[in-house]
Amino acid sequence: MISFLITWYLIPELSHLFLSANLAGKDLNKRLNDYRVPEGVGVIAGAIYLVCLFCMIPFYVLHSKDDASSTMLTNLSLYLSALLSICCMILLGFTDDVLNLRWRHKLVLPTIASLPILMVYYVTYGNTNIVMPFPVPQLFNVNVFDLGILYYVYMGMLAVFCTNAINILAGVNGVECGQSIVIAISVLLNSLLNLNSECWNEHMFSLYLVCPFIGVSSAVLYYNWYPSKVFVGDTFCYFAGMTFAALGILGHFSKTMLMFFIPQIFNFVLSVPQLFHFIPCPRHRLPRLHSTEDKLVMSTVKFKYSDLGILGRVFLYLLPILGLSKITVEDEHITMTNLTILNVILKVVGDTHEQTLTVYLLLLQVFCSMVAFLIRYQLVHLFYDE
Ligand code: UD1
Ligand code: MG
Repeated sequence: MISFLITWYLIPELSHLFLSANLAGKDLNKRLNDYRVPEGVGVIAGAIYLVCLFCMIPFYVLHSKDDASSTMLTNLSLYLSALLSICCMILLGFTDDVLNLRWRHKLVLPTIASLPILMVYYVTYGNTNIVMPFPVPQLFNVNVFDLGILYYVYMGMLAVFCTNAINILAGVNGVECGQSIVIAISVLLNSLLNLNSECWNEHMFSLYLVCPFIGVSSAVLYYNWYPSKVFVGDTFCYFAGMTFAALGILGHFSKTMLMFFIPQIFNFVLSVPQLFHFIPCPRHRLPRLHSTEDKLVMSTVKFKYSDLGILGRVFLYLLPILGLSKITVEDEHITMTNLTILNVILKVVGDTHEQTLTVYLLLLQVFCSMVAFLIRYQLVHLFYDE
């Protein structure tokens, strides 16, 4: 609550500083051409989050004071490494907002920023085994498989995925922040459900990190909701992504965490042809405003068939069949809807108001979290022994 109140108070107080530093973005889906909004306000949320986590260090240490000093040190190193990685990512995100980094940097930087948590994982747990689901143990008589170094590669990739997946599911007022809050609340519920289990310590750690996150993000959402008075920027997306990656890795629930990312995974996989340039990728893929009605329509990209390689042509053939994109051909020019989940939602529900689209996406995120809980706590028994 304190993190919420401070962020809620400070954003309007400080946002004019962003405008005077020319840190502003045009709201692409508003009719007013000169409607400029402070950009990168996620840095305020990130800074307050860090201050809160710093202030909570004594409480975190005191709550494990009855344990052996080695346990206290382990707990502290988990906490500090998460702080370091998140702090690093906030810095990198803000750099991105100010300098507009290239895509290859966006992939490399989270990998480097995740090193502190990976090293602490190595020193504290170092467990790289995965338990095999049904029917592998029955068929091959293998219950546990040691992934070794590949487990660290997986965790490094998780950090890259979490940060970028939120950043590319963006562009509509309230979407970046709203999805992060739904994921964070899912993590909160999951940790509360596990507080009486034998891994309560990891889930207590998770609660320490996730509660102030929900606080600062809710305040950001208040100002970022339609019509946005501030933009969260890449700073917030990276900050949120690294917080989730740190929680998943150090709290030992990275697979459950991935299940809370179902819409982001879908959006990421769908985006692959454009992200890897098999199909041309415009600078902005967000839905666009219909010129006369106050509704968003699917955004498109225009190119020639001859511009595509073999894989691009395969995607061009398959995606409309799967109902994931719409194509119109005019002379030698092809117009294709951009490959994003927001466009897919618009394809299903039809043209809609910007705020309604955000609500649809958030409802989908909530539904997917419920599915994740169903898999995690019910269907899991079909695949794993207790
Ligand atoms: C990512 C997406 C891009 C999307 C953009 C929107 C990919 C590969 N990249 O790029 O398709 O268009 O995010 O955030 O999928 N904006 C709005 N309304 C909003 C939020 C943002 O109009 O509610 C616009 C503003 O002009 C703002 C800009 O998006 O300045 C921010 O874009 P930026 O975060 O720099 O884009 P990327 O993260 O590179
Ligand atoms: Mg962005």
